[in-house]
Amino acid sequence: MARIGKDGRVLVVGAAGMLGRAVREAAVARGARVDAVDIASNPAEGIDAFDMTDAADLDRVAQGNWSVVINCAAWTDVDGAEANEEAATLLNGTAVGELARACKRGGAVCVHYSTDYVFDGGGTEPYRVDHPIDPVNAYGRSKAVGERLVRESGCEHVLLRTSWLYGAWGQNFVLTMMNLMRSKDELKVVDDQRGRPSSVRQLARTTLALLDAGARGTYHGCDGGECTWYGLASAIRDEIGAGTVVHPCTSDAFPRPAKRPAYSVMDLTETVKVTGELVAWRDELRSVIEQASRLETGAEA
Ligand SMILES: NC(=O)c1ccc[n+]([C@@H]2O[C@H](COP(=O)([O-])OP(=O)(O)OC[C@H]3O[C@@H](n4cnc5c(N)ncnc54)[C@H](OP(=O)(O)O)[C@@H]3O)[C@@H](O)[C@H]2O)c1
Repeated sequence: MARIGKDGRVLVVGAAGMLGRAVREAAVARGARVDAVDIASNPAEGIDAFDMTDAADLDRVAQGNWSVVINCAAWTDVDGAEANEEAATLLNGTAVGELARACKRGGAVCVHYSTDYVFDGGGTEPYRVDHPIDPVNAYGRSKAVGERLVRESGCEHVLLRTSWLYGAWGQNFVLTMMNLMRSKDELKVVDDQRGRPSSVRQLARTTLALLDAGARGTYHGCDGGECTWYGLASAIRDEIGAGTVVHPCTSDAFPRPAKRPAYSVMDLTETVKVTGELVAWRDELRSVIEQASRLETGAEA
C-alpha cells in the first residue's frame, strides 16, 4: 500500500497552485519526503521547474523513486478554454495521460483531480461516481479526456473529482468576495447554480486519507453540504461581518463564454465510507477565512 508518510517519497506536480500548496503542506506535515514541481521554478519555496507537456520531464517521473505522484497542475481558466480548447486539452487531457503512463512505468500511484464540470448539470440529485459524464463546456471536455486517459493508462490511481475550490491563497471566489465586500455596499450573486464548495485543505486531507486506506478508482472530494453561489457569498459576508447587501440573481445577469452546469452537487458516499463525515462547508469556510486573515496580518507565514 502506498501511504504518505515517512516511508514514501511523494512528488507534487503543480505545487505552486492553490490545491498544490495545500497538498504539499499536508504531506510535509505528515513527515513525508515531498518533492515539489511546477511549470516555473521557485527556489525560495523549494519548487523545481517541471513541464507536464515535456517528454523529458515525464521520463523523470518514470525513472524516479516516487511511491505517489499527486497531480495538481491543470488548465483552470474555464472561460479561456472555450477559445483555446486544444491547449486546454493538451494539458488537462494528453499530458495527464502521459503522466499516468509515466507513473505506471515508475511504479507510482497517480493521484489526479477532475471536476464537477464533467457532468451535464441537468441532475436533481447528487451525481454518484459512476453517473454518466456529459460535459457542457470545453474545460469539462478537456478534464473528461484526462479522466479517460488516466484509466486507460493502467496505472494504479486515485481520481478525485472536486468542485468550487477555495482556500486562503490563490484565485478563488471566497477571497474575491472578501475583497469586494470591503468596498461594495451591494453585490449581485448568482443563485441558480448549486454545488458543493471544497476547501483545498479538506481536499488535501481527503487525498491523504484515501491513500492511507489504499483506495483506488474514482472518488468525489468536496466539503459536506451544498449551496448556491449566492448562499456562499451570504455566508462569507456574515463570517467577515461586512455590511454588504447581497442580492440573488440568475446566471443571465453575468453572461460568460463558458456555459456552467446548473446542478453540480456530487455524491460523497464512497468517500465518506473511507474518510468518515466530511467537514461541512460552513465550518470549513470559517476556518479558511480565519487562516486568510492570519496570512494577511503576517500572523501565519
Ligand atoms: N479551481 C477550481 O474551482 C476547481 C474546480 C474543480 C476542479 N479543479 C481541479 O483541481 C485541480 C487544482 O486546481 P487549482 O485551482 O489548484 O489549480 P491552479 O491554482 O490553477 O494550479 C495549477 C498549477 O499548475 C501549473 N501548471 C500549468 N501548466 C503546467 C505545466 N505544463 N506543467 C506543470 N505545471 C503546470 C500552474 O502554473 P501557472 O499558474 O503558472 O500556469 C499552477 O501553478 C485541477 O485539476 C483543477 O482542474 C479546480
